[in-house]
Amino acid sequence: MTEPTTAVILVAAGSGTRLGAAVPKAFVDVAGRTILERALRSALGMAEPAQLIVVAPHELLSEAGRIATAAVGAASTYLSVVAGGDTRQQSVAAGLAALGDDIDVVLVHDAARSLTPPTLFELVIASVRSLGTGVIPGLAVADTIKQIDWMGSVEKTVDRSALVAVQTPQGFPRDVLVAAYASANQDYTDDAALVAAHGTAVTVVDGDPLAFKITTPWDLARAESLVSATEPAPVATEWRTGVGIDVHAFDDDAPLWLGGLYWPGEPGLAGHSDGDAIAHAVCDALLSASGLGDIGGRFGTSDKQFENAHGEVFLTATVELVRGAGFEIGNVAVQLVANRPKLAARRAEIEVHLTELLGAPVSISATTADGLGFTGRGEGVTAIATALVTVV
Ligand code: CTP
Ligand code: MG
Repeated sequence: MTEPTTAVILVAAGSGTRLGAAVPKAFVDVAGRTILERALRSALGMAEPAQLIVVAPHELLSEAGRIATAAVGAASTYLSVVAGGDTRQQSVAAGLAALGDDIDVVLVHDAARSLTPPTLFELVIASVRSLGTGVIPGLAVADTIKQIDWMGSVEKTVDRSALVAVQTPQGFPRDVLVAAYASANQDYTDDAALVAAHGTAVTVVDGDPLAFKITTPWDLARAESLVSATEPAPVATEWRTGVGIDVHAFDDDAPLWLGGLYWPGEPGLAGHSDGDAIAHAVCDALLSASGLGDIGGRFGTSDKQFENAHGEVFLTATVELVRGAGFEIGNVAVQLVANRPKLAARRAEIEVHLTELLGAPVSISATTADGLGFTGRGEGVTAIATALVTVV
């Protein structure tokens, strides 16, 4: 296998202040894959093999290594993962220190531009090789640009035909970039500015709208919807099933709540909460599937918050627990064993209500017990539920 002559330094060491997520930006999920993994996949999509240098936050180095190794797979010999610095420029410098001996063209790319098509990498590399200059992708500016003073008053309209909005990957002959970084004595906003300050020409090639930078929550939402429109949802590979049963006796003096709905004119069910056997069986099935115990253990009868609580309080809390434990709900099926109420008339209503609460399909059926046992004698109801969850 010949050694690659191109390297991509993927800077992913920023904190993502403007995105405001709970984790540094590169580790934020975009429709099932982290920003970092998506950026790596773009770079890996190039026809030419390249050395990939991931620059990650110091505290997340091993997590970045895990994501990168999984994404790179068999080509992992060309992968390096190094710790970044306080500024982007310092992070790029840390990446430069990891360049392999045979590298003659270096691309610096923001992991935050994680939907950048591989063709843009290829265009930049080919242009660096043919022009021998620095090469940066740029897009024509669509909006009219005004120059303003500090009060916000317009001073003039800038001629936008002479402007481009610059993206990454930015490519350079290795020697040029290394020398420019070695002599840099101030912070520049991008690598091209640093290289230009060192006296080397930089050429703009056509950028790509997909190379936009995920900076704010709005950008993240845009990335999510672009990906969802073009990619099939990730297929779950690990499934768990669960079962739950709940039994309540009738209490003629109580209102009936069942399946999260109020049933006027029907005898109610006795219980610490509202006795909604369907809701409770669903909770138990979901907790069972997720290995989280059962409703009694999770929402104890001593907890005032759940006294007289309706089924949806338990259901919503259960969904949170299930998701928090790393599962998504596949579907839930429930059967009610009871003489009354007659479910048929409101079956669709319950299904819609519970489906909305769980964010996954819920189906309901009902049967009588042919006069046998406590349900057959009309003393109470039994609800049996099964749930399927997927490991996220
Ligand atoms: N970056 C980096 N090291 C830093 C700062 C930024 O590697 N010290 C990387 C980011 O991870 C990102 C790219 O440089 O991929 C562009 O930076 P930006 O979009 O500004 O990301 P953040 O600095 O993380 O975000 P913010 O400025 O909102 O905090
Ligand atoms: Mg920043």
